[in-house]
Amino acid sequence: MKTEFYSAADGDEVFCRCGEIIRAGGLVAFPTETVYGLGANALSPEAVPKIFTAKGRPADNPLIVHIAYPDDAEHFAVTCPEYYELAERFMPGPLTVILPKKDVIPPEVTAGLDSVGIRCPSDDAAHRFILAAGVPIAAPSANVSGRPSPTCAEHVMRDMDGKIDAVIDGGECDFGLESTVIALDGKRAKILRPGAVTREDLLEVLDEVTVDPAVKDPSKAGERPSSPGMKYKHYAPRAEFRLVRADGDQFAEYVGALEGKVGAVCLESEAPRIECYRKYTLKDGDDVRELCHRLFSIFRQADDDGVEVLAARLPDEDGAGLALYNRMIRAAGNKITDPEAATEE
Ligand code: TXA
Ligand code: MG
Repeated sequence: MKTEFYSAADGDEVFCRCGEIIRAGGLVAFPTETVYGLGANALSPEAVPKIFTAKGRPADNPLIVHIAYPDDAEHFAVTCPEYYELAERFMPGPLTVILPKKDVIPPEVTAGLDSVGIRCPSDDAAHRFILAAGVPIAAPSANVSGRPSPTCAEHVMRDMDGKIDAVIDGGECDFGLESTVIALDGKRAKILRPGAVTREDLLEVLDEVTVDPAVKDPSKAGERPSSPGMKYKHYAPRAEFRLVRADGDQFAEYVGALEGKVGAVCLESEAPRIECYRKYTLKDGDDVRELCHRLFSIFRQADDDGVEVLAARLPDEDGAGLALYNRMIRAAGNKITDPEAATEE
């Protein structure tokens, strides 16, 4: 199949064409404020399975339903006052709320679960695309299953060219990691996947917010995890990814002792001390959000560079750091390397 490539900057015509493709049962990749999504008509049991084929995604991993306005959730899920309180504060935006599903959503979307993830993206191109389609959009991240989520249209083309009908190029995604996913139970919520909307943010609206143990320790996901996506290795570069518990000096020493084509994620100021094949540097003043923004594209770049072992320091777990920690520990196959103890946890 020939994949049509459009720039969101070209406006209405692009969204009309892509809406038409969706209504005809096709697949369109589109930008959001988190990562690019691979969309199909969420009401179509014929269209939705094409997503799983294009991605090579396990059939038991449910999809999120994207809507144009928070109130649209009413048609597809059983809402509650707390959903609207959250919507008031965080939507449109990078938050997915799991709610009991209504019958219009076919089981193909939810992998047979009786709940559905609802998300209302804030990205303007995403909003216009959903409106133009006139139907809710079921969409996972637009990567081949197991690869890092795409944060620009070029990543999408690398993974999906020839497999899907169209791509809308909206430039680089703002946040760069996927949305916060929560299961809601009245005034209480459980974070199933951390993202830009943090636990602290959610506590402004809710009374109690817990973090699923599998967020920090993916081995706890078990056979029947609360979010099926958590049991899969994910977000990984082809290089072996080492997550190192170390200060600057220990990290430089650890990286220097590694063999093969070694890549390191480090600060500009510490780069001169580190000896390795490729360095992916962050500015010293950069905050955790800048690393969130760049993580997946660093993974992809390291692959392009032929890096065999990629090392990064363990991030803090506070605020948006928890999202970073979660993606990194999964990419590292749930291992933390501790050079002091010379062991892997
Ligand atoms: O930022 C995002 O959320 C992006 C953009 C495109 O919106 N989408 C995304 O979708 O990351 P995906 O399919 O790659 O990740 C969805 C996650 C998976 O871990 C899945 O298991 C979980 O949400 N999920 C979806 N529906 C669920 C449900 N009903 N119950 C529990 N977990 C669910
Ligand atoms: Mg994904």
